[in-house]
Amino acid sequence: MTKQTIPTTNTKVIDWVNEIADLTQPDAVYWCDGSEKEIQAINNLLIENGTFIALNPEKRPNSFLARSNPKDVARVEARTFICCEKEVDAGPTNNWANPKKMKKTLNGLLKGCMKGRTMYVIPFSMGPLGSDIAQIGIEITDSPYVVANMRIMTRMGKKVWDVLKDGDFVKCLHSVGSPLKKGQEDVPWPCNPENTYITHFPETREIISFGSGYGGNALLGKKCLALRIASTMARDEGWLAEHMLIVGLENKKLKIKSYVTAAFPSACGKTNMAMLIPPKEMGDWKVSTIGDDIAWIKPKADGKLYAINPEAGFFGVAPGTSEKTNKNAIESCRANTIFTNVALTDDGDVWWEGLTDEKPAHLIDWQGNDWTPKSETPAAHPNSRFTAPAGQCPIIDKNWENPAGVPIDAFIVGGRLATNTPLVYQSFNWQHGVYLASTMGSEKTAAAEGTMGEIRRDPMAMLPFCGYNMGDYWNHWLKLGASLKHKPLVFRVNWFRKDSDGHFMWPGFGDNMRVLEWIVKRTQGKANATETVFGYSPSYNDLTWTGLSMSEEEFNALMHIDTSLALKDVEAQAVHFEPFRKQKTLPVEFDAELILLKSRLEKTE
Ligand code: GTP
Ligand code: SPV
Ligand code: MN
Repeated sequence: MTKQTIPTTNTKVIDWVNEIADLTQPDAVYWCDGSEKEIQAINNLLIENGTFIALNPEKRPNSFLARSNPKDVARVEARTFICCEKEVDAGPTNNWANPKKMKKTLNGLLKGCMKGRTMYVIPFSMGPLGSDIAQIGIEITDSPYVVANMRIMTRMGKKVWDVLKDGDFVKCLHSVGSPLKKGQEDVPWPCNPENTYITHFPETREIISFGSGYGGNALLGKKCLALRIASTMARDEGWLAEHMLIVGLENKKLKIKSYVTAAFPSACGKTNMAMLIPPKEMGDWKVSTIGDDIAWIKPKADGKLYAINPEAGFFGVAPGTSEKTNKNAIESCRANTIFTNVALTDDGDVWWEGLTDEKPAHLIDWQGNDWTPKSETPAAHPNSRFTAPAGQCPIIDKNWENPAGVPIDAFIVGGRLATNTPLVYQSFNWQHGVYLASTMGSEKTAAAEGTMGEIRRDPMAMLPFCGYNMGDYWNHWLKLGASLKHKPLVFRVNWFRKDSDGHFMWPGFGDNMRVLEWIVKRTQGKANATETVFGYSPSYNDLTWTGLSMSEEEFNALMHIDTSLALKDVEAQAVHFEPFRKQKTLPVEFDAELILLKSRLEKTE
């Protein structure tokens, strides 16, 4: 690449870039402009390096397949750190490290770590460029794969300099941690799994990520900036940065247009709900997508909360995505998409488990090996993903780039739980809603390293993403809600209840519209509910059933609450709160909610 003139006069940027170049010693420094010409050169370079395989342009125009190192396939929570002055500010759910000590460790690793590589400087905006809700970040990386992904996932390029001027930005430093010696040949997916560090310095608004090239570990605008750093900004400034999808739900006949958000843990259905297609019998309902993973939510003078999607693309889970389950996601990744760790078909297209009912007779699996339906390992990695521009979603909402955001009527929270969590219920009030969200549990999925299936509490689906003490975060939610004239209603849902044979009791996907209809109507005071020990619940006749054969008995089984199991969970909730109580960050309101829940349950025994 030819010698460039530096595209900004911001001395804070220039000094930082020089400082990092001195430390990491790359062969070259390249300032990204976000142009078409630039991305073509980057894609070609990735093909040359063997990182990208160009897919068949007739089947998948301008799209690529990347295969990662098998040791670098998901976020690494055990290697993720919050580095703030006081340990208590990171809280009991984060790995804490002293900022000075961590910087020392990192400096040791960063020294010369970009040797033999090009250092890319990526200016990007989370949120529409120039919006007062948006935040500017600059990612320095030695991974051209990261550049290609950031170009889809964020508003990236030279326009950012005009908005930034001489202002402040979030410093995002990333290295795959794999320098090249003179003449040493590169590998398709350089990384350093033995020395991975995903570190956040909330007090100085910095991110340093070393050793991984995958997803949330490396695309630093996403989980690192838009959740961990942004959640601390939100606490300081009185807003919310959440792991939530945002959708529009419209029914012209009923004169309803509503926006709701939903917090589900990783790989628990956000992208699916964000792009939901209602069953044809509910054709009066139209769903539109604002975002599928992250919401920044701010109170406005009218007393309502407004949400924006800070991202510009989808980094969606591939397995399970099909014409049947999520047609809009399939349409979103028809072209201009990067696929990571999916399988390659013999005609140069992609495949993953669940894409088609019938498995192809032959594939190359995510590790580059021959695969047939008889193979014992999956063709695509369970956490394989597509990176696709959000604008390609057929049902993208007309307000998706509206810098003012959209007004939120309901917060939906839920996890993946096989037992004793009903399909849906509404909290009694805001405080109870925050409590329901804070006690959310879910079975572990492939989106993070670790044992699958294990149940863990994942408050607001933010366990891996809250940049400060989770108890303070709950207090922040309580306080913010108390200040709102128009509080969103809070609902808890569970699409994943199983019967004793291990089958899902609820069809899920498009049929979730039946639950969403009830939720939206509740926000408008147009739907019935019955009081239960957990909250307000619909009865069989409160939901639309045309097009789905589900008997009242089956529905009641889905909604059933086993009192003795629920009482056991009360004990478990108390245990879950204990570390926060010790650190004096547990909201006093939660003790009250716990007592109320217990007494409601004891009365029904
Ligand atoms: P992240 O991108 O990791 O944050 O995940 P996500 O929350 O966006 O999850 P996603 O929508 O990609 O869904 C993950 C998995 O859950 C996929 O395999 C889906 O097929 C499955 N899934 C989504 N919705 C439903 C549902 O309503 N019922 C059932 N049974 N499975 C679902
Ligand atoms: C998640 O794990 O919640 C994701 C994928 O959305 S990643 O961007 O890798 O965090
Ligand atoms: Mn996510």
